[in-house]
Amino acid sequence: MTASNPPDAATRERFQTLFRAPTGDDRPRVIRAVNVHKTYTTGSQQTHALRGASLEVLRGEYLSIMGPSGSGKSTLFNMIGALQKPSSGKVYIDQVDIAELDHNELAWLRCRKVGYIFQSYNLIQVMTCLENVMLPMAFAGLEPEPARDKAVSILKLVGLGHRMLHKPGELSGGQQQRVAIARALANSPEVVLADEPTANLDQRTGQEMIELLDDLKQRLQVTVISATHDLKMLQKSDRILWIEDGRIVRDARPSDIDFGSAEFH
Ligand SMILES: Nc1ncnc2c1ncn2[C@@H]1O[C@H](COP(=O)(O)OP(=O)(O)OP(=O)(O)O)[C@@H](O)[C@H]1O
Ligand SMILES: [Mg+2]
Repeated sequence: MTASNPPDAATRERFQTLFRAPTGDDRPRVIRAVNVHKTYTTGSQQTHALRGASLEVLRGEYLSIMGPSGSGKSTLFNMIGALQKPSSGKVYIDQVDIAELDHNELAWLRCRKVGYIFQSYNLIQVMTCLENVMLPMAFAGLEPEPARDKAVSILKLVGLGHRMLHKPGELSGGQQQRVAIARALANSPEVVLADEPTANLDQRTGQEMIELLDDLKQRLQVTVISATHDLKMLQKSDRILWIEDGRIVRDARPSDIDFGSAEFH
């Protein structure tokens, strides 16, 4: 596997002006998106889902992304999770320019560097929880026995040690989302991308999920990026980005925000 070089100093300097970078923190940037555009073409219709989004995410950050429906949150996640390529602009994951990766290298990166959590859990219904969590490990080439041991310990970590042999359909929504979180952590990723992970859960279960993600972030030093409208998730975040019409329009810390204001009600 060959990894591309990070951009040279001149390119980096040019890009620096585009970054909405947090200052005064020299932790490594685990994700960088630079002037990303994404246009979908459906028949004769073009949709500009992203119109020049730039952001960078520090290792270990808990970043929330807010924005109205259709503003481009999921599209941005698809870009920074290397699930789709931008129409133009650059995405770096852990310093690697994803445009320079071939098919196999991209699959490798998706499998090991990024963990994905979806609103609707996306678990495989015919497999047990344990098998769901072991699956990404099998893709990564781990032998069944160590994969099983690791899956057991992650499921215990998310509080599901007693439900491992159940199938997703036998579990509550919150429990299924815990399995999805365990699956996202299976290959010890650098970044967990969570696209509205509490949207299908009641308030109390949503709160439990937020606390779990926060706890895992602290314990495993993983970077969490979450699209959310959940106030509690915003309050737990290190930083919040607002996206509107495909552009990042605001970058703030929870301490800068008036959560009592009209925009949150
Ligand atoms: N595969 C696709 N083909 C065509 N248009 C798409 C596709 N995916 C998204 N879009 C369009 O791109 C725009 C941004 O969509 P996106 O799903 O990123 O928004 P979102 O902020 O995640 O919205 P929501 O909060 O409803 O999940 C929308 O206008 C959407 O209709
Ligand atoms: Mg979405």
